[in-house]
Amino acid sequence: MSGLHIVDTTALSLEIEPYTPNIGAFIHDIDLARVGPHDALASELHAALAQYQVLFFRDQRLTPEQQVSVARIFGDPDKAKAFFPRLAGQDLVEVIESKPGGHRYGTDQWHTDITFSANPPTGTVLYAREVPALGGDTLWTSATRVYDALPPALRDHLEELQAVHSFEHSGWPRFFLAQRGGETLYRQARADNLPVVHPVIRVHPVTGRKLVYVNPNFTDRILGLTRAASDALLGLLFGYFQRPDFQARLRWEKDTVAIWDNRATQHYAVNDFQPARRLMHRVTFGEDRAFA
Ligand code: SIN
Repeated sequence: MSGLHIVDTTALSLEIEPYTPNIGAFIHDIDLARVGPHDALASELHAALAQYQVLFFRDQRLTPEQQVSVARIFGDPDKAKAFFPRLAGQDLVEVIESKPGGHRYGTDQWHTDITFSANPPTGTVLYAREVPALGGDTLWTSATRVYDALPPALRDHLEELQAVHSFEHSGWPRFFLAQRGGETLYRQARADNLPVVHPVIRVHPVTGRKLVYVNPNFTDRILGLTRAASDALLGLLFGYFQRPDFQARLRWEKDTVAIWDNRATQHYAVNDFQPARRLMHRVTFGEDRAFA
């Protein structure tokens, strides 16, 4: 027998270990760098992401180009981006670095990525390049489970409502203003990102499941309500997202990859590890329209 061992990724099946009853799964024995966008494994990954909403992969070795290719399995990596610094030589990779004296991003707040955009990303590939010895976990929560848990009368009420999502409402203005010459950058970012309106209840285009689409980082107010009534209703909904029942908490290791469905989830990066260093590479991906 030849010593050559060729792995045919078109003939394998995913080894899936559900992580909690409501959200998340580990995928074992897979080398993401070897999965092509048209392989059978790619369509299994699509199905797993729709079902589990966030997927975890340990011990991946990805170059920045390979991380972009992983994102391409799920969507177009050249859609909506945030304002994190980009990786030199691979512009589609955002660098989220925490280090002593560095900027503190507002990722330690529940959010769905970039909902201040009319067309937010449909998902994200986050790759741990450097992790603290302790802490720096990320949590995800399921917006479909939150919807399922709402009293029917509240669901009916929310169906009629729309919410304003705004760049201004988030931590990004602080990020710009903390930089030298930041005022100009801030004014430009504000002009490029006028507030947008999204329905409070959306239908996931892949699963057909309803989900609650408001998040504390970017949702400013519910249209047609007084500020007080809007704050009270948003506070009630945000409370559901905080229920541990709908959450998965990942303890990162170096070379762990998390891929999440950015339509069906929110996430929160725990900021308990300062002053240790934490370095993540992020590639968001999207479609022409995140929702039908
Ligand atoms: C993010 O909010 O996209 C980053 C989350 C993290 O750094 O864990």
